[in-house]
Amino acid sequence: MDAANELDIAWKIKEQYNSSAAADRYAEYFKGSLRHRRKDQREKRCIARGLSQVPRGSLVLDLPCGTGRMYPLLKDLDLHVVEADSSPYMVDHARRKAEELGLSGGQKQDRFLVSDIFHTGFENRQFDAVICNRLFHHFPDSQTRQQALRELARICSGPIVVSFFSIAATDALKFLYKKYILNKTIQDRIPIGPRQFSKDIQACGLRIERWILPRPLLSMQWYVVLRHR
Ligand SMILES: C[S@@+](CC[C@H](N)C(=O)[O-])C[C@H]1O[C@@H](n2cnc3c(N)ncnc32)[C@H](O)[C@@H]1O
Repeated sequence: MDAANELDIAWKIKEQYNSSAAADRYAEYFKGSLRHRRKDQREKRCIARGLSQVPRGSLVLDLPCGTGRMYPLLKDLDLHVVEADSSPYMVDHARRKAEELGLSGGQKQDRFLVSDIFHTGFENRQFDAVICNRLFHHFPDSQTRQQALRELARICSGPIVVSFFSIAATDALKFLYKKYILNKTIQDRIPIGPRQFSKDIQACGLRIERWILPRPLLSMQWYVVLRHR
């Protein structure tokens, strides 16, 4: 894949979420079927495990925050939180949700900001931890993943909890069927080999502290906790 195409895909993903309708839809997605609600709970458990070493009162960045799905969990963990996303519509949802829950009142450290993962605008090692849920499966090539990982490494001093889609799961078979049997060109939500992702991680001066698999062998969605080497 050439560099222009890679950027094009990352740009398209960003645009895909950059509307009021997309944010409204996403806000409802995990509240829908039992399957989605279970997925929501599983993802929250993985994030909580990934942050288990982070002391109370630490400053954590949730990027991309989407509609603020992880914010109540981060507050339950007694963390100070920056919720950031490239879509202002998503950030707006996250802010309103926090206000409705009465969680952000008086919490001066908590902020809701528009920010792009490739150029966040945050300071070096500003955060004690970062979570990045459900974005890397939109980045099909190493270069894009590495660009994002380098930026997260720059702004974080502690653990970085990242989700991605791994090929080592039975629900990746659907993707393989579409690609190799139906010969479809797929550019988004592409599962990758854990070894490939490990190479991207190492290339960015990071090491893997731990893998967290919500449903081993079954689910493509994997989590990895990263630290500076
Ligand atoms: C699938 S949602 C995940 C949201 C949230 N992490 C969650 O798990 O509910 C993907 C989010 O990534 C955001 N996004 C896409 N490209 C981005 C970029 N380059 N920088 C920051 N956020 C981005 C979108 O606006 C969207 O809110």
